[in-house]
Amino acid sequence: SVRQYIIPTYVHIVVSDDGTGMGDVAKDVVEKQVKALNEAYATNAATAGIQWVFQVRSVVKTSGPDMCDQQNEASMKAKLRKGSRDALNLYITDLSACGLLGYSSWPWDLKKKGMVMDGVVIHYDTLPGGQYRPYNLGRTGIHEIGHWLGLYHTFQNGCNGNGDSVQDTPFCASPSEGCPVHRDTCPQPGEDPVRNFMDYSDDSCMRAFTSGQHGRVEQMWKQYRLMV
Ligand code: ARG
Ligand code: ZN
Ligand code: CA
Repeated sequence: SVRQYIIPTYVHIVVSDDGTGMGDVAKDVVEKQVKALNEAYATNAATAGIQWVFQVRSVVKTSGPDMCDQQNEASMKAKLRKGSRDALNLYITDLSACGLLGYSSWPWDLKKKGMVMDGVVIHYDTLPGGQYRPYNLGRTGIHEIGHWLGLYHTFQNGCNGNGDSVQDTPFCASPSEGCPVHRDTCPQPGEDPVRNFMDYSDDSCMRAFTSGQHGRVEQMWKQYRLMV
């Protein structure tokens, strides 16, 4: 039998209040992003005996300031965050002021920073069909939620130590760009996992999580987010 984790998901669309109205994404675009998330988190989950389901509870549009600024981030999250520590809050907004595709809190931040700051922020143009080429197929949301679930980059610690603390992702020395073929930057066995969602490759290149990553996510979930 497969263990199923249903993650209540609150989507907040924070439209720029600077007069440009940037980030006012349409409902069907949000639906495509959620579909991309559910497909990605089904990958290899079955082999790990787990199933992750992001179940959208609400999609709400608000106008707000640039969430690049830490004070704005805190005030918007304080105003908008919903649910308990097992709920995903996904903020879709304009991050062009800081040139970021997205950013996330870690599960272990819950203890230090409290629940209000918990969540994932992504640039609206990274959603499927957005303008942020080659990062416009919704992989940024998948990648940032990976961090939110406790996954490190595949190049964490380079070729050293425990790498990304996942057994079945080969070590790699540095982030990949584009979609390199036979990239191999570490002496340990295996080519670099350039197609893994936790690398930095182009969206069209990214397509997998490993069962080891699903195992770590489940472990992190039980440690930090399980509601009993
Ligand atoms: N640089 C960002 C981070 O480290 C996101 C990278 C997402 N990559 C992508 N192909 N969409 O969290
Ligand atoms: Zn990352
Ligand atoms: Ca590894």
